Amino acid sequence: MSIKSIFEQRLSTAMVGVGLPTETSPSVRPSVRPEFGDYQANGVMRAAKVAGENPRNLAKKILAAADLSDLVDLAEIAGPGFINLHLKKVFIAKQLSENDSKRTSTRVPKTVVIDYSGPNLAKEMHVGHLRSTIIGDCIARVHEHLGNKVVRQNHMGDWGTQFGMLIAELEYHMTSGETAELVLNDLEKFYQRAKTRFDSESAFADQARKYVVRLQSGDQHCLRLWQHFIDVSIQHNLNIYHRLNVSLKKEHIKAESSYNHQLEELVSRLSRSGIAVDDQGAKVIFLHEISDRNGRASVMIIRKSDGGYLYATTDLAALEHRAKILKANRILYFIDARQALHMKQVFSAGRLAGLVSDEVTLEHHPFGTMMGNDGKPFKTRTGGTVKLENLIDESIQRAADLVAIKNSTLHDNEILEIAKKVGIGAIKYADLSKHRSTDYVFNWDAMLSLNGNTGPYLQYAYTRICSIFKRAKVEMTQYSSKVIVNNDEEKKLCLKILQFNEVLEQVAEDSLPHLLCGYLYELASAFMCFYEKCPILKSTVAVETYQSRLTLCSKTGETIFTGLKLLGIEVTEKM
Ligand code: ARG
Repeated sequence: MSIKSIFEQRLSTAMVGVGLPTETSPSVRPSVRPEFGDYQANGVMRAAKVAGENPRNLAKKILAAADLSDLVDLAEIAGPGFINLHLKKVFIAKQLSENDSKRTSTRVPKTVVIDYSGPNLAKEMHVGHLRSTIIGDCIARVHEHLGNKVVRQNHMGDWGTQFGMLIAELEYHMTSGETAELVLNDLEKFYQRAKTRFDSESAFADQARKYVVRLQSGDQHCLRLWQHFIDVSIQHNLNIYHRLNVSLKKEHIKAESSYNHQLEELVSRLSRSGIAVDDQGAKVIFLHEISDRNGRASVMIIRKSDGGYLYATTDLAALEHRAKILKANRILYFIDARQALHMKQVFSAGRLAGLVSDEVTLEHHPFGTMMGNDGKPFKTRTGGTVKLENLIDESIQRAADLVAIKNSTLHDNEILEIAKKVGIGAIKYADLSKHRSTDYVFNWDAMLSLNGNTGPYLQYAYTRICSIFKRAKVEMTQYSSKVIVNNDEEKKLCLKILQFNEVLEQVAEDSLPHLLCGYLYELASAFMCFYEKCPILKSTVAVETYQSRLTLCSKTGETIFTGLKLLGIEVTEKM
């Protein structure tokens, strides 16, 4: 059991003992400042309000009723009624030793469906896809680690009007003898050529429009061309995922087109039940729950007057699939903040139409934009969109330069292997360490710095731990011995190690990866302080101290390794 839960349990019992209702929470958190102890209980003020009592008096009563003698050296009342808990060193040491054997969670596993990445297949993946892809991937990994059942859903945009133009372009090239592979070798250029032709040649534009209709009505010729295009584009995306160390695979793709055959039935079902109504030839849903300032209901079109279906229609079908077929308990969407209204409409309509039951939580977790140093959305020097392919190449190149300077004993192929991990790690960490809802400035120098809350700093901390074990000539993984906590540095480090699971629970609850980054940074910093103050390999160190400290090193290393893995970042033993 986590430290937090142990205190919650003890304090809850005491709270019930002094006559408070059973559901009152002591609300225990790690303290924000060292002078507030190691943990603090913040729940007394709220409980006092409900009970109509003086909070400090109530805190006194609770402490008198609580048995904390084996856990704390001191439990003091502070400010308006906080309880500050100063933990006993022996208790911390005992927790750390027990922690290994009892890592099982008592929670019932949930089925968590996670919608992320979802690039549009008409173009190559670019920086605009990065945040959804890596934030979603981190959250998926964390849920899996905590024992939940995760279903990844890559809602790729592979359907819609642009594809008429693209297959017309593809046909044009293939009839003049070129192979699809060759023509589609640079998707970006291909898209540009198609677009130029579409805008300047009216016959081509007509053909493209005709092809959209033929494609959507199942015409074999158009479908074949479309499939060619989609296959190449998907392969490109899978390569990017692989290079980025993102866990999305082919089997997670559930693209827009896969819902196509369900849309007609869905719309007529919603019409029959009166949820969707006719409006100027279109089928719409009025959402009174989302009305504007004048009380007018928000309108969601689910079939256009020409019979075409929309992004929203597909999302309703996807919602139903996730709730009823995938049996989700939670459905998480990692999509740009600009789609907030769209998501609100989909959720509201989905509930209204009974596509998803009330027990299932629907969560849009939006994120801000990646900005350039000029404060505008990140672009190439000439103002174009930055392809992920190029971003990845550049990160590896920059990391290689850094590693070569830092460690001149490495061979070129070693440098490349390390640079891949460091470069990719730097990009991902820079993104994941910011609160997801805000915009952030993309800055190569800052993200590749070896100081501060960066990926390279954590990877470097990990290499330091590896080298301790190399010098000690012992295997790091699983090294475990009795832990003795004697001084403040050891105490702080132990506490940090013990808080890992609490942090992961919070990350999973709120879908906020930056909490994990902040935690790992604090852990690595606590380790550096410990390492400075507490000798390990010196011959004067007593055997049990040596073993205890080496155990702390191993547990720190293991936690950094797992923490980075959950962020989708690899470690290296040297750098
Ligand atoms: N393809 C969409 C886009 O590029 C993102 C898909 C997000 N997922 C969803 N279920 N709508 O904007």
